[in-house]
Amino acid sequence: MGKKVTVVGAGFYGSTTAQRLAEYDIFETVVLTDIIDGKPAGLALDMNQSRPIEGFETKVVGVTTGTNGEGYEAIEGSDVVVVTAGLPRKPGMSRMDLLEVNAKIVRQVAENIAKYAPNAVVIVVSNPVDEMTALAQLATQFPKNRVFGQAGVLDTARFTNSIAETLAVPVKSVKALTLGSHGDTMVPVPSRCTVDGKPLADLLPADKIEELVVRTRNGGAEVVALLKTGSAYYAPSAAAARMAKAVVEDSGEVLPVCAWVEGEYGISGVYLGVEAQIGAEGIKKVVEEKLTDTEIAGLKEAAEAVRAKQADVATL
Ligand code: APR
Repeated sequence: MGKKVTVVGAGFYGSTTAQRLAEYDIFETVVLTDIIDGKPAGLALDMNQSRPIEGFETKVVGVTTGTNGEGYEAIEGSDVVVVTAGLPRKPGMSRMDLLEVNAKIVRQVAENIAKYAPNAVVIVVSNPVDEMTALAQLATQFPKNRVFGQAGVLDTARFTNSIAETLAVPVKSVKALTLGSHGDTMVPVPSRCTVDGKPLADLLPADKIEELVVRTRNGGAEVVALLKTGSAYYAPSAAAARMAKAVVEDSGEVLPVCAWVEGEYGISGVYLGVEAQIGAEGIKKVVEEKLTDTEIAGLKEAAEAVRAKQADVATL
């Protein structure tokens, strides 16, 4: 049977994700939903009209959903659901400022996913993503491996791009990694960064690497400040679409994602940015690699920073 993916939220992030997923041409159907009347249908029609030009056969279906779950039948049978519903940041806001308002939205979306697509793998991107992922798992009651969040693929891409620009090398020469939370306790991992196989530390002085680390940590805010309305979506949607692709292709790729950890790096019982092998069941396994003591300490700090807030989402 053909593969089906749903993207909930037809704003900038959701619509660009849907377009990328459709252009992969590996799905039979991409469903795009929103609460705004007509918007998902209009975007779907527009995307379908690009099929003859871009040369893909995937059909995009746009559906407006109601507050009581009306319209959610359209997501039945989805292999993957990407949750992008929720408000983006405004300049000066942290992702955490979105917690309460987005929690209400994500909870309602997750309950409908559980009802209409009980076998789906859920990828959460709504911010603050570490907390919204925990909430989506709670509200769906899906096994923890079937609910994970997008942060590390994007943060790693931002880090990679900065390194490539700084050294004036192709992005494909650079291997980089970020772990931790998608926020102030993001942990870029310079010890795992190489350029054409050479350690980054041999190519750039420590203060320059630190500058790139700081820029990565503030990568989202830098875009928000320039856009003035809304937040980034081209790189974020590339990250989310790529994760959904790894799931439906059961690729076994190892990607940095927001996953449930149970003992890895001595950390347990929290959703945290770690490397994980991705497949049809979502997270196949969290992959624990060798990190420096400082990086492990950063990861532990990130876990403690998100742990209490993740526990709080139960009440939101
Ligand atoms: N169900 C479906 N869609 C919803 C719901 C809901 N319950 N509530 C809101 N939406 C929709 C809005 O109508 C809007 O079209 O979510 C969409 C959000 O789109 P944008 O405002 O363009 O925001 P976007 O840039 O797409 O970001 C979405 O991703 O990166 C995060 O911080 C960002 O939390 C934000 C999310």
